[in-house]
Amino acid sequence: MASTATLELNDEEHDEAFLSEAISGLQNERKELPCKYFYDERGSQLFDRICELPEYYPTRTERSIMQERVDEMAIAIGPDALLIEYGSGSSLKTRLLLDVLDSPAAYVPVDISRDHLLKSSEALAQDYLGLEVLPVCADFTQPFGIPATRVEPRRRVVYFPGSTIGNFTRDRATALLEGVAETCGPGGALLIGVDLKKDRQTLERAYDDSQGVTAAFNRNVLVRMNRELDADFEIDRFQHRAVWIEDAGRVEMHLVSEVEQTVEIDGEAIHFAEGEHICTEHSHKYTLDAFAEMGENAGLRVSQVWSDARRRFSVQLLEVAP
Ligand code: AVI
Repeated sequence: MASTATLELNDEEHDEAFLSEAISGLQNERKELPCKYFYDERGSQLFDRICELPEYYPTRTERSIMQERVDEMAIAIGPDALLIEYGSGSSLKTRLLLDVLDSPAAYVPVDISRDHLLKSSEALAQDYLGLEVLPVCADFTQPFGIPATRVEPRRRVVYFPGSTIGNFTRDRATALLEGVAETCGPGGALLIGVDLKKDRQTLERAYDDSQGVTAAFNRNVLVRMNRELDADFEIDRFQHRAVWIEDAGRVEMHLVSEVEQTVEIDGEAIHFAEGEHICTEHSHKYTLDAFAEMGENAGLRVSQVWSDARRRFSVQLLEVAP
């Protein structure tokens, strides 16, 4: 039996952060909401469905890179590593790694969505008997503690798949990578999924699928605010929009107010003009050179890159200087 729950955030702290970040984001001249709040239980389920959509190439492509090259990744990581996963969700790709890693010291999944985290950690602990699984419910953009392990690890390796790094502005992504370098310490490493730049049509379709799953995922943040923050959004009055912004090198998701309206959140009135946007997510895409430069700035050097034949996506190993 291998699962020990280490929970850092309590529900009240979580709610307060959500309320204050939602209100301040919607009071900005350019309205925005942090995309980390997409992932309540329904949001996490919708995201799992997005990952299986024909238009959403990142998950499929990353999975196939992992399937084909995971042995090389395991050799590069080496034996007795403590594997720390940022934003672990269902830990699906992690299983590919855990299947081949040489006696990992322990696995620490870190996720903000508590129920999802605990369910998938239990399932994992059952399937990998003998592996110490130490879930941490935390926002990985903030400092958090790494639990003590039974076995002393040879090195710490952060696994950050899914190109979630793309959801951070370049400054915040650099700061996050600096945090990874600090968490891993000298001799540590980062194995990360990074989505690459490509044509507009592929990108916009990936974020506006024909079945409307991404639209439901986007609008779900409003459903969540109604339920958790005593808000009164009329969900159907907000349209989903996804657009590739070439200059910024990112896809942006928006919710567009179809009418002029006022919404209350915990008694605070927020006015929307007709056609006004809430920016709900940035999804940056990189060239290999641009990502390597960002890693260098954060104290991480790219040592290996695995990609698909069409150069759509990359999985990269970055090393912290020993
Ligand atoms: C989690 N993250 C990397 C996804 C992305 O592609 O930016 C979230 C997502 N948003 C819409 N579809 C998927």
